[in-house]
Amino acid sequence: MNVNTRGSVYFKKSRGIHHDAFDFETSAHTTISKTIRLVRLFSYDVVFVLGCGKGRAVCHFARQHIRKVVGIEISEELCQIARVNAKVLRGRKADIEIWNTDAALADFNEGTIFFMFNPFGEQTVRAVLQNIEKNHDLTKPLTIIYARPLYSNVFNEFPWLEVIYDYERVSGLRVMVYHIKVKANLS
Ligand SMILES: C[S@@+](CC[C@H](N)C(=O)[O-])C[C@H]1O[C@@H](n2cnc3c(N)ncnc32)[C@H](O)[C@@H]1O
Repeated sequence: MNVNTRGSVYFKKSRGIHHDAFDFETSAHTTISKTIRLVRLFSYDVVFVLGCGKGRAVCHFARQHIRKVVGIEISEELCQIARVNAKVLRGRKADIEIWNTDAALADFNEGTIFFMFNPFGEQTVRAVLQNIEKNHDLTKPLTIIYARPLYSNVFNEFPWLEVIYDYERVSGLRVMVYHIKVKANLS
């Protein structure tokens, strides 16, 4: 892919408004590509990668036939690296934007798919779901992919969401995929 997305970085600051940011670490390319294959992508899709780090998952999504990928990252230093990776990525098919902001505060209006690889704790997960609830048209399709879902309990607070996939890989990595419930089932 011609990108440099390796390594792990420990940040003492930038824990976010809810003070629960996890440090940067990335996962294997095969893990990300297999996870992406769990969902069907369309040319209109706008994917938000929450806690995009150096942009590995962003780059994988951008090689698909979708409209756009937005990487949200709280660390300015990681954003700069992700932007370089976006520029040099080989085989890019979709536009890429990298936003240096807290996922709890981001404008998710355009998003149709949200991808998280355990980037932050319970409070920010809740803030993200509240943000989507407030700003997304819940009659339109929306998919949330949550890998290593430590705080999947928070999703139970949002009755408009349902699990469509709960998958545990041989490596032990669990991935949950959520959809908006069809209107008839909303209670
Ligand atoms: C496990 S890494 C994600 C790896 C990345 N998805 C990839 O493809 O390599 C978690 C990232 O989330 C970021 N992060 C944590 N809390 C955040 C928040 N509230 N808003 C935005 N980014 C956050 C961290 O700085 C870190 O880079």
